[in-house]
Amino acid sequence: MNAKTIRDVDVGGRRVFLRADLNVPLDDGRITDDTRIRASLPTIVNLLERGAIVILASHLGRPKGKVNDALRMKPVADRLAQLLGRPVRMTGDALGPGVQVAVDKLRPGDLILLENLRFRADEEANDPEFAEALAGLADIYVNDAFGAAHRAHASTEGITHFLPAVAGLLMEREVDSLSRLLTKPPRPFHAVIGGAKVSGKLEVLEALLTRCQAVLVGGGMANTFLAARGLELGKSLVEEDQLENAERIVAEARRKRVRLMLPTDVVVAPQIHQRSKTKIVAVDAVPKDQMIVDIGPETRAAFADHLSKAKTIFWNGPMGVFEISQFADGTNEMARAIARRTSAKTVTIVGGGDSVAAVEQLGLADRMTHVSTGGGASLEFIEGKSLPGVEALLPADAEINFRENA
Ligand code: 3PG
Repeated sequence: MNAKTIRDVDVGGRRVFLRADLNVPLDDGRITDDTRIRASLPTIVNLLERGAIVILASHLGRPKGKVNDALRMKPVADRLAQLLGRPVRMTGDALGPGVQVAVDKLRPGDLILLENLRFRADEEANDPEFAEALAGLADIYVNDAFGAAHRAHASTEGITHFLPAVAGLLMEREVDSLSRLLTKPPRPFHAVIGGAKVSGKLEVLEALLTRCQAVLVGGGMANTFLAARGLELGKSLVEEDQLENAERIVAEARRKRVRLMLPTDVVVAPQIHQRSKTKIVAVDAVPKDQMIVDIGPETRAAFADHLSKAKTIFWNGPMGVFEISQFADGTNEMARAIARRTSAKTVTIVGGGDSVAAVEQLGLADRMTHVSTGGGASLEFIEGKSLPGVEALLPADAEINFRENA
């Protein structure tokens, strides 16, 4: 990437404000997927081993500027401590006199984790005073939070107006890996796009139509495309207000000669429940009292066969209601089909929370070229948008001027 990274900085003895994306899913205070914490480790360890004083900060969930005990960083600190094999101290707030006192006590090689940044409304408002006060804790700013790089918040963008800003190792890997999809990706380039709603994916679909040779659509969003063809889909989720957009995308794909593949058969159930009785039916034979919950076996085989010709694959979004194991076969089959291609030297990139979770659950993460920690951030990147958190970093050829108190 064209940005300075932590490798370019002599961090020994300096106070580093490290913004990571430690926004992990929680269930009753328990972390259900620690991928983002593990992905942040290389930068944390690198800085600590080089004698930096690390002030680590992240958001967790969407507390909307208020303290919410269910979204305290404590479970993250505990998991991080386990992974690092050393205690991780925490502050009681994201900012304030207590935080300053705690930071002043730190020595080279020490680490402290700030409380959830989003307990402060100033964070999402990108308030300059708040950003400057955060900056006052440190001598240099490192952004490793690729997952939050599409947000212009105080800790991702505002702070860079007050401190030299460089990329962490995860940020660098994410940007370099995802850039492979934008700059001359080996062809054919096929995308697999799923998830519940087409409304949230219109822009990425449009962007993919300009880059891909085929776009394979599954998940709830495929229903809207099928309905736009005039099919009756029983009780299935269909976004009626997106039918025109779906038609427009189909027409655009035809004009650009991009193959847009939709399911030909589906798994249906009377309701979304682990013990619902399922059936496999053709897309034009969905019973009135049933809903589509997964792609069918014929579709899985056709998608996998098509992917076997790809040299670049991008996958975002599940093929069905994969949180319920009996509706997860389509999603799991896609994960396996894509992993098989990696060994055949195809570039395989997975982005977005649910498809990443599926890949992790199946133990296939290591079999992909890259599994992104960014959901919205990875989509915006692929849409070709510039991400504020990335844009704000010092260019690779810039000089680093430390604060005078360094
Ligand atoms: C994510 O989970 O995609 C990132 O952590 C950003 O979170 P946000 O969508 O709440 O800004």
